[in-house]
Order: sequence, then C-alpha cells, then structure tokens
Amino acid sequence: MRQTLVAGNWKLNGSKDSIQTLVKGIADGMSAVNGTAVAICPPYVYIPMVQNLLTGTTIGLGAQDVTDQESGAYTGEVSASMLKDIGCQYVIVGHSERRALYGERDEDTAKKYAATRKEGLIPILCVGELLEERENGDTENVVARQLDAVIALEGVAALADGVIAYEPVWAIGTGKTATPDQAQEVHAFIRGKIAALDADVADKVQILYGGSVNGGNAAELFAMDDIDGGLIGGASLKADDFLAICTA
Ligand code: PGA
Repeated sequence: MRQTLVAGNWKLNGSKDSIQTLVKGIADGMSAVNGTAVAICPPYVYIPMVQNLLTGTTIGLGAQDVTDQESGAYTGEVSASMLKDIGCQYVIVGHSERRALYGERDEDTAKKYAATRKEGLIPILCVGELLEERENGDTENVVARQLDAVIALEGVAALADGVIAYEPVWAIGTGKTATPDQAQEVHAFIRGKIAALDADVADKVQILYGGSVNGGNAAELFAMDDIDGGLIGGASLKADDFLAICTA
C-alpha cells in the first residue's frame, strides 16, 4: 500500500497574522487525520515562521518552487540547499502557473527536479494538460512529454524519490474538478508509462490529483486505485476545508 499525501499549495497568499491562524487551525485538527501524510507549502518568506509553528506536529513543510542553480549570481532565486537548510522536506516543481506565467519549459522543470532530489528533498512534479490539449485528445501526449523530460535527465529510478501531481490545468482554481474516472484514467496512464520502464518504481510512486479538490469531492477522488492523495490550492487556505480533505 502506498502512503497517501495531502499537500497544500498556498501560492501567493497569506500574511503573518493569517498564517498563524491557519497553521494553528490545521495543527489543532490533526488528531482527526489518520493514515495520510500532510504537508503545507507557504510562500518562501514565511517558511521559517511556519517551520516554527509546526514544531511538535507531524505536518511536513515544502516550498512552491526552487532554482536549478546551486549558488552564485542569480538574483531573486532560492536554492534547494537553502530550502533544506531551513527545514523543508518537499518542493513543488513545474506547477502549471510556473509553466504558463513564467515560461518554464519541461527541461527547466526537469533541472529543478534534479536539484531538489540532489539535496535529498522530495520534489512534487506537476504535470497536466490545458483544456485545448484535452479537447484535441492530446492529454496523454502532454503528460508523457512532461514526464519524459525528467526521465531523460535523471532516469526513471529518480521518480521513486519524488511525488507526481496530475493537475489538469483547466481544473486549477476553476471549481471544475476532473471526475474521479477522468482523473483515474490519467493516473493509470502515468503509472502504466512508468511501469513499462520500471515496475517497482511505478508501484512505489505516489501520484496526487490536483485541481479544485475540496471537502466535498476529495473522498471520491482519493478512493480511485491510482490516486494517492491531493495537491490542494484554494481549499488549503482555510483550516476547516483543508482538514476536511485530509480526513477524506
Ligand atoms: P486549486 O489549485 O486547488 O485551487 O485548484 C491546485 C493547484 O494549483 O495545485
């Protein structure tokens, strides 16, 4: 049995006050959460503060992005070794917002995956198709291409050190969730594609679903064979909503 994971991606949201309340709310509700790992990914500047607030809890900590560089003249960037130093365990790489808004290419994401893995942190590799790509029947091609960039750089075994998040872009922040069957179909495709290269890795790798997951739809999604938890945006910003997903 694969361990499930629910990770909250706060994106560009929060303040010292709101984050204190949110983390306390999540931590207080954790006694009701059984059998799933939980992690939160605040904006960089709040990571140390959240790290403090998480002391004594089982909640993991992650960042939303990372540079592929180790150090040097890269103004504005944050490295995987810094994230490790500050106490992160996870790093989201290749989120569709990085790809769409900041021009991140598959090979850039693959380098970030490699940099994260090199530090012993767990990359959460986001893949997923645009609405237009789905309508053109290209979903599997797109997801395969995004995975292949990492496999080409790091080898298929590297996927066992990370987590994959299937996030159809048309479902992110739109309130339109993929149906459990739609999501399962792509999750099974991903696992099958990896299995064709290495069955053990395919069996081990956690594949999360992301895209408008909420307390009302999480249980149905997480019940599918190849869905091992969720990457949660909007609903991770309210403790009750996030906990409802974690207990699903
Ligand atoms: P959402 O975002 O839950 O708000 O749709 C998911 C994500 O972007 O990871």
